[in-house]
Amino acid sequence: MLHPAFSRRQYLQMISAAPAAAASLQKPLPGDADRERRMKWWHEAKFGMFIHWGLYSLLGRHEWVMENEAIPVAEYEQLAKQFKPKPNAAREWARLARRAGQKYMVMTTKHHEGFCLFDSKLTDYCATKQGPGRDLVAEYVEAARAEGLRVGFYYSLMDWHHPDGARCATDEAARKRFVEYIHGQIRELLTNYGKIDILWYDVAWPLTAEGWESVRMNEMVFKLQPDIIVNNRNLLPGDFSTPEQRIQAEKPGRAWEACMTMNDSWGYHAADDNWKSPKTCLRNLIQCARDGGNYLLNIGPRGDGSVPEESVRILSAIGRWMERNGHTIYGAERCRVTRSNYAGFTRKGNTLYMHVYFWPGETVTLAGLECKVLSAKLLATGKPVTFQQDEFRVRFTGLPKTPPDDPITTIAIECDREPVQNMDRVRRERPRRGV
Ligand code: GLC
Repeated sequence: MLHPAFSRRQYLQMISAAPAAAASLQKPLPGDADRERRMKWWHEAKFGMFIHWGLYSLLGRHEWVMENEAIPVAEYEQLAKQFKPKPNAAREWARLARRAGQKYMVMTTKHHEGFCLFDSKLTDYCATKQGPGRDLVAEYVEAARAEGLRVGFYYSLMDWHHPDGARCATDEAARKRFVEYIHGQIRELLTNYGKIDILWYDVAWPLTAEGWESVRMNEMVFKLQPDIIVNNRNLLPGDFSTPEQRIQAEKPGRAWEACMTMNDSWGYHAADDNWKSPKTCLRNLIQCARDGGNYLLNIGPRGDGSVPEESVRILSAIGRWMERNGHTIYGAERCRVTRSNYAGFTRKGNTLYMHVYFWPGETVTLAGLECKVLSAKLLATGKPVTFQQDEFRVRFTGLPKTPPDDPITTIAIECDREPVQNMDRVRRERPRRGV
């Protein structure tokens, strides 16, 4: 029986398209051949800065303000003339990122609003020809490089400003023009700024991968930038997945990056005061590192380029912790110890890092380890920690009453092999009275 949602014609189209789609999945996609090589630095880096900056930053009511307040294009466009950020604002962001322990940056070169922060020959709606009168992407690239950070470009496929941006879905001539525009801008971005490390596509509405000609798009990208990595939001798998505002690991072998905000908005939102604590951000980073992922943490600078004080405060606290503990994050491998009521975990080789975020006091306990603990120390002080281990638990004892580090205290635990936790064994085999 036909599914009631499909007409007979649609259904026939679907089943005849299925074998072709399946066959195309077998074909290697652009970038498949040397993914491991290209991704190496990124896997080690673990922690990056996302930057949402555009005309919406002047209004301070979230980056979706144009759409969610239904602002007419002609009215919104006026902002382009008023956009006059201070020179080299990106310097401040890059310094902040480096001090926070972030190893790469990804900035919106064009968000859904359609305004380009770069110099484009394909439109006048860009920074060089409007209020800023200069190339903000060039400044950003220079700033990131000056601080030794890798450079990423976010680029929105969806475009609320371009005349073809919506009708491309129903008008083939418009689609052709629009795809040429989008491909052309990606070409500009990847031609005019030297070596770029990440291309971060966003929102593919209203077209499919076929409509965007995404295979051709990625082919061009890798031709222009053979070392680059790309995400999955042009509807191809790309090099990594992009869980948004949540941490969700992919199966081993597939890279992923959780992107998250510090409050509830990506773009500057003056009244959004729902800030996460530095501890929450660090717990998120630890969880990403534990599960083989990266953490891309966002700032939304104001229209003048300044960073909201709250974000500076959070990133500075993160940075102070990373100075002492960063080596437990960078280069961390997937960790198969996960369960605790007060700690997160990362791992490098046979060393397990227990990151205690709710300090229980003089004794810290870890259950279900399948290996022998050889030694342990407190990272904050370098002091060895005494411990007792039996079949089911290891207890770290004689610890200070109050946490020696802030906001998370890490115990480095040397094991005789890769530490793995098995809570099932604890539940089944822990001796019961009389058994
Ligand atoms: C979403 C939103 C956008 C934000 C992005 C970040 O797709 O539309 O505003 O830039 O996610 O991941």
